[in-house]
Parts: sequence; C-alpha cells; structure tokens
Amino acid sequence: MSTVTAQGLISPHGGELVPRAGERPGDVDSLEVVTLTSRELSDLDMLASGALSPLRGFMGKEAYESVVESMRLADGLPWALPVCLAVPEAPSGDRVVLADDGGRALAVLDVEEVYAYDKEREAERCFRTTDGEHPGVARLYDQHGSYLAGPVTVFERLEPGFPELHRDPAATRALFAERGWRRVVGFQTRNPIHRAHEYLTKCALETVDGLLVHPLVGETKSDDVPAATRVKAYEILIDGYYPADRVVVSAFPAAMRYAGPREAIWHAICRKNYGCSHFIVGRDHAGVGTYYGTYDAQLIFDEFEPHELDIEPMFFEHSFWCKACGQMATAKTCPHGGDDHVFLSGTKVRELLADGELPPEEFTRPEVAEVLIAAYRGG
Ligand code: ADX
Repeated sequence: MSTVTAQGLISPHGGELVPRAGERPGDVDSLEVVTLTSRELSDLDMLASGALSPLRGFMGKEAYESVVESMRLADGLPWALPVCLAVPEAPSGDRVVLADDGGRALAVLDVEEVYAYDKEREAERCFRTTDGEHPGVARLYDQHGSYLAGPVTVFERLEPGFPELHRDPAATRALFAERGWRRVVGFQTRNPIHRAHEYLTKCALETVDGLLVHPLVGETKSDDVPAATRVKAYEILIDGYYPADRVVVSAFPAAMRYAGPREAIWHAICRKNYGCSHFIVGRDHAGVGTYYGTYDAQLIFDEFEPHELDIEPMFFEHSFWCKACGQMATAKTCPHGGDDHVFLSGTKVRELLADGELPPEEFTRPEVAEVLIAAYRGG
C-alpha cells in the first residue's frame, strides 16, 4: 500500500524518519572506544540523518540473519543488505564510543549484543559470490570477526565532503515540498554523467515532477572516478543541460558495496527515505566486473510483492548512441545493428582519458570529458 506524507511525498521506509542525531552524553570520555572503518562511518552518518530509517543502529543477530536469508528485517519489512559494525571482541561495558580513525568521538552505541557471523555465507547470500577478488567481498573478509549491535546516538556529524551538496532526508523532502513535487525520481551514480546516464534521467524526468541526481560520495574502489572530479563534472553538465527548476543535485553519503542486485534494492529504499517515489535501475546497477547479469538488479525487484517497497523502480535497458537513429536509444527503441551503436567500456574510457584523448561526443559531452582529462592529468 502506498502511503504519502502531508506534503504528498512518499512516506519514509517503515513510516517515519528516525534520525539518530542527539546530544553528547556526559559519560563519553570514560567509555571504551570503537574505531570505525570508512564504510561504517558512512553507515553511521546515514543512521544520524535518517537515511537508513527505520534502523536505529547497527543490526542485531535476528535482523542480520533475516536480512541475509530473506532480504527482510525481523518484522518483515524489506531490507536488502546488512548494516553492521565489526569488532575484534566484545567490549566490557554496555556503552561504547564510536570514533573515526583520527580518534574523534562521533557517537555512542548502547550495546545490545555481540555475535559471531559467517563471512562466506554473508558473501554468498549478499554478493552472490565468495570470490575474495570481488571488492565488496574482499572488504567483508578483511573485517573483524564479530558484530557489535545496538542503537546509536550521533552527537558529532562527519564534515560533509561537499557542503554545497549536503542534504539530509528531511532537507530533500522539504525542498521537494517547497517545489510542489510529489513524484520524484532518484538517480544513483558512482560515475560521471555520460550520455547514457543523461538519457535515463531525462526519460525518467519526462514522466514525473522532479529529478534527484544523487551521486554516491562515500568510499568507492580506487579505479572509480573520485567524487571530487565527478562533482565538478555534474555541476557543469547540469548547469548546461538540465532545467534548474526540475533537478536537485545532492550527495548520497553511502559507501559502495558493489553488491549489484541487493544493492539496487538497498539504494532504492534509502532514496525512498530522501523522498523519492521512483528510482532508476539500468544495466548492471551497482555491479562490478562480470559478477552479475546485465539485468539481475532489475529482476530482483520481482522478489517483492507489488508495492511492498512502495518506491517504484524505473527500469532501463542498456542504452547507447545510435548513429543511424541520430540519438540515444536502446534495443527496445532502435532497429539498427551493433555497428551503428557507440558504447565504450569503463576501461576503454579510462584508457582514452589517461592518454589525454576525448571520448567520442556521442558517449560523453565534451565539457564533461574536459573535466575528466584535467583530473587525469592532475589538474
Ligand atoms: S552504479 O554503480 O552507480 O550503478 P553507474 O554510475 O554507472 O554505476 O550507474 C548509474 C545508473 O545508471 C545505474 O542504475 C545503472 O544501471 C545505469 N546505467 C549506467 N550506464 C548505463 C547504460 N549504458 N545503459 C543503461 N543504464 C545504465
């Protein structure tokens, strides 16, 4: 059943936003310190903002098992990926401080449980592979061996990497309401916006009120284009080619897990918290290498009842520029053969940029390519 807020926006997952930001408790200086990895820091910040509603902290065993096994929280609400905090051993007290690797105290966690988990099983269920070469699986294998669970209270938020793009779910919702938008499509990306991405977002925008371009700015693997470079490219592209009154660009602070299909569900649920009624899922969403089939991240949505997620996925086929059509297209809309289609792999694009060569205009707008080349040259 679809539910909406008083402003006509989609309701948050589970009914309401539960931001876990709060006052600094008096006992912080006397507590044992747990140091978080960059993925855990991103999760903590999203718990603070309400982006992971209805989660109130790092998952306990019952929720974890249920999510790993059946993509649901213990009460049956869809949830696709664990949000867990790995520790080497159980802390002695019933409250700990969560800190970054510089020792800065950010939050307290009230300890409910410490439990062992099976890394291979989590890898197999969540990443569909136990291959340690998979970047998400590698990180999982690298983690400490127990999970520490309990609600968090975040009293110190992370400095946003891109302050001008920083908006918590309550803020994007307020902005959508102010603009009178009800139907808003969210677009996840960890790449510069190439022509294919532009095509999907504009096709989607044709049918809704507004577009949230929501690039992921948490940790990505080292050969992905760094967020700072992407942000420069987003600004130039959106200023030049998108109508300002129909688009919001904002940072999504999550780390990439590269979990493909399950991450697509997780991405969609988070965007629902930001107020998106629709979410774009194209080819190999959140994929890496050849671990997932091109449309696995779309097919996984069939594992939920219609409207159970509430946010509506908008699926797109692999899109490309067709020289014969003279426009962007997909196999659904173009009758021509592969020779007419311009598509470059990520590796090929990186090679061109590293050589200072502009990728074809049909693949990337020159303004975007210039930013990428400058970044490759250290500019
Ligand atoms: S992702 O890891 O964030 O999914 P990327 O930034 O490349 O990677 O993709 C963002 C979104 O655009 C995803 O939904 C992805 O499926 C989609 N997408 C990327 N390239 C294409 C393409 N050529 N055709 C169709 N969909 C695409």
